[in-house]
Amino acid sequence: MDYQKIIDDLYLTYKNVDDKGKVASYIPELKKVSSNKFGINLFTLNNQSYGAGNYQEKLSIQSISKVFALTLALKKVGKKIWKRVGVEPSGDPFNSLVQLEFEKGIPRNPFINSGALVVCDVLISSLKNPKSEFLNFVRKLTNSKDIYFNEKVVASEKKHGFVNAAHVNLMKSFKNIKNEIDVVLDLYYYMCSIEMTCEELSKSFLIFANDGVLPYNKERIISLSVSKRINATMQLCGLYDEAGHFAFKVGLPGKSGVGGGIVAILPDLYCITTWSPKLNKKGNSYLGFKVLEEFTTITQSSIF
Ligand code: DON
Repeated sequence: MDYQKIIDDLYLTYKNVDDKGKVASYIPELKKVSSNKFGINLFTLNNQSYGAGNYQEKLSIQSISKVFALTLALKKVGKKIWKRVGVEPSGDPFNSLVQLEFEKGIPRNPFINSGALVVCDVLISSLKNPKSEFLNFVRKLTNSKDIYFNEKVVASEKKHGFVNAAHVNLMKSFKNIKNEIDVVLDLYYYMCSIEMTCEELSKSFLIFANDGVLPYNKERIISLSVSKRINATMQLCGLYDEAGHFAFKVGLPGKSGVGGGIVAILPDLYCITTWSPKLNKKGNSYLGFKVLEEFTTITQSSIF
């Protein structure tokens, strides 16, 4: 399969497509990113990288960080985390509060905001230096030290994070948050502010294509069973209330963020990342979704 040609062709086709999306504006700092950025990268388990466009430029990973957080939390505390967060799709927007009261402060899954905030709480209780240990974990998965938080994005989110604060407060009232509210929000915003390139994102997700083992040094990070479960959770919940559509049209487990990145995984073969900041109505990259749909159609890749 000539992956480079497929990616080049997709890049050239979709670069000129009328992008109906809108850049996320609820975090003012994210609005500053040029809406024309467009990158695609495919990284295979046998260490081949194929890219087009802005695939080596940093983007704000936002909610894609929720997968790293869950992975680290599962490593630290194991399956008891599932007592505090579920694995069902929410069918609601990523920041919706409505289910949380009915379901007594137990978030539907770890990839909506409430679920990720519980995961942050678990990390704070189980790590000595949560921020630096989290960043080092992401660096290790990627095999790169050149990965940092963006303090301006953190400050921007903190200033406007009223709904996230509401989530933590509500969960604290149900005793599903153990640490101080501001400490939990702080770690969450730092995680979301991490900047990585499409190529780094593809590399960092390869453990989920490789049964939990880092391909570059063969170190096992998580068990086969945990890797399978994280993929299953991404498949069902990774694109929020568009996860069904993503399974239907793309057919791979994936995770999106409001910075416009989407990562998708084909177990045993590759990870593919797209970046285009304009988002559709569900908060997922408009072009990224279309490119992934076309890519899996052309290459006939799917987990199904
Ligand atoms: O909590 C927030 O609003 C953001 N920092 C993360 C949201 C996000 O990326 C959801 N994605 N599609």
